[in-house]
Amino acid sequence: EKYMNIRYFGHSAVELSGGDHTVLIDPFIDDNPAATVSSAELEASHILITHAHGDHVGDAVSIARRTGATVVSIVEVADWMEAQGVESFGMNMGAAFPFPFGSVRLTPAWHSSSFDDGTYGGMPTGLVIEMGGKRIYHAGDTALFSDMSLIGDLGIDLAFLPIGGLFTMGPNEAVRAAKLLRARVVVPVHYNTFPPIEQDAQAFAEMLQREGAGEGLILAPGETAEI
Ligand code: NI
Ligand code: MN
Repeated sequence: EKYMNIRYFGHSAVELSGGDHTVLIDPFIDDNPAATVSSAELEASHILITHAHGDHVGDAVSIARRTGATVVSIVEVADWMEAQGVESFGMNMGAAFPFPFGSVRLTPAWHSSSFDDGTYGGMPTGLVIEMGGKRIYHAGDTALFSDMSLIGDLGIDLAFLPIGGLFTMGPNEAVRAAKLLRARVVVPVHYNTFPPIEQDAQAFAEMLQREGAGEGLILAPGETAEI
């Protein structure tokens, strides 16, 4: 039986592990008020970054320098990482590309993307990751868009969807996204990190159920789930 473990760190930061591989997504840890771990404790072979904003790049540079992990992202983010002395691999939106742990496809996201130092970050992205026999969608920061139904056509086992509002979808938009994605399991992210993005995740999960839009899986920061 194929399986994968997911660990949530708060905000959009997630760890995927399956087989011998550990992959981090948007590891915003040490400045993340919700995180219960230190970035110094984390191990990874690859770090996936959805876009250049500080609450997504997070501790990617220090983790990559310490562990030798490769940062995988859109080319502009990868180039910036390379300039920090970090091993990186640039892609663009389009098709799945193979990695030792599985594959990664960059998908569109309706958002913006520049680094804290002002460097242009290219287009923001979402991620479709195949790993451990599962297909995971991490939406990054985005508004609702109807082409999420194309992502749903890939067959998504689990979707990480932002529900905080203000900078991304709120709960109502994320329920509509879940309907388009047809994911079996939906994990709400990018909420309750800071006061302006406080949301009721339990109410979101109930709305998902009412609308037949998948099973809500609420993870507290530090919590792990097997899928
Ligand atoms: Ni952002
Ligand atoms: Mn963000």
